[in-house]
Amino acid sequence: MKKNIQENIQNLFQPTFGNRPEQYIGRDGVIQQFMLGLNEPIGSRDRCTLFLGQRGMGKTALLLELGDRAQRAGYVVARVTAHEGMPKAIIEQFQLNGSKYFDDEKRKLTDVTSRVLGFSFGLTFSESAERQFGFRSKMSLLCDKLADKGMGALILIDEVCTSAAMREVAAAYQELVGDRKNVAIAMAGLPYAVSNLLNDKVLTFLNRATKVELGLISTNLIRAYYEKSFKSIKIEASDNILDRAALASRGFPYLMQLIGYYVIQYTPERGVVTDAIMDKVEKAAMGDMEDNVFKPILNPLSDNDKILLMAIARCGGTATTAKLQAMLGRKGPAIQPYRKRLIEAGVIESPRRGELVFAMPYLSEYLLEHEI
Ligand SMILES: Nc1ncnc2c1ncn2[C@@H]1O[C@H](COP(=O)(O)OP(=O)(O)OP(=O)(O)O)[C@@H](O)[C@H]1O
Ligand SMILES: [Mg+2]
Repeated sequence: MKKNIQENIQNLFQPTFGNRPEQYIGRDGVIQQFMLGLNEPIGSRDRCTLFLGQRGMGKTALLLELGDRAQRAGYVVARVTAHEGMPKAIIEQFQLNGSKYFDDEKRKLTDVTSRVLGFSFGLTFSESAERQFGFRSKMSLLCDKLADKGMGALILIDEVCTSAAMREVAAAYQELVGDRKNVAIAMAGLPYAVSNLLNDKVLTFLNRATKVELGLISTNLIRAYYEKSFKSIKIEASDNILDRAALASRGFPYLMQLIGYYVIQYTPERGVVTDAIMDKVEKAAMGDMEDNVFKPILNPLSDNDKILLMAIARCGGTATTAKLQAMLGRKGPAIQPYRKRLIEAGVIESPRRGELVFAMPYLSEYLLEHEI
């Protein structure tokens, strides 16, 4: 029993980027829509989805979650980030993750039919296929081989951008779909990572994908998760403390993890979470937010970018272009170019025409406090 609690304590909250959370909270609808899409006919729009969200909003965690679920639904999954070696990495991932379904073939090294199909055994290509074929042909062979076992192929691309490697994968995907191969694709990226107009072919592909925006998650669900998690490790938290912890997260997934993590760190074993503990928790969590979220996004900005940001912060975190213009006066920087750059950098968003807000919670307070 003791060991179980210890393991639980270590796993419950892990405030690091790119990990697989113990439980993925608050995106049931998004997950369900994607999983239903996998049952749609090959080539349907929902089988090619693009998830967009700011830093720390849970894009990588979502791809991991979808990968696990798709695997249980009969897909072999290749998960990559969109770097230049991506096509090769996708093939390798399929071979690595799919080989366990072909264990029985290892013995049949001399099997002539599988050689004819381009494989020497399992998902390993024959020497000539390896040499002659490019990404699209190899994918086609892999899809056929997986189809023999009744399985599909799901490609997960994180940190999507408009690069040459993306163009190759996008073109291959469209051709594979044209050949009726059971392939699906889920991509994730920053909202403006896909606004680079230089590479219009990739852009057309991305624009045709089903787009899903990942925003803040419900603080009610976060509260329920805190309640369940603390109970499971025998930490006592009153209704007020649970409210306080959930509201302090403001629905931002990374902060949700940080707060849960520090509550466990600062509360004695089988102890009670007090307001004094929560003060310490919030301070530590904000320290990590500063180091891992705010500073990295603010450091590359210019002085004029920062002047505009400070003006938005002084407006209470929501500002209209007209109000900013009035605040900065005629001598201030022209708003439009900075506005565009800051939106592309994921610092601010424009939820409505003419209106600007910060892209993540607490950034406004941080700026006012530190007068950057
Ligand atoms: N829905 C969720 N439920 C529980 N934890 C989550 C959820 N979404 C994200 N997290 C946690 O929040 C943190 C940040 O998530 P993640 O690394 O997926 O963000 P990201 O959007 O990929 O960020 P970046 O743009 O910097 O890559 C991780 O610790 C992750 O486990
Ligand atoms: Mg990520």
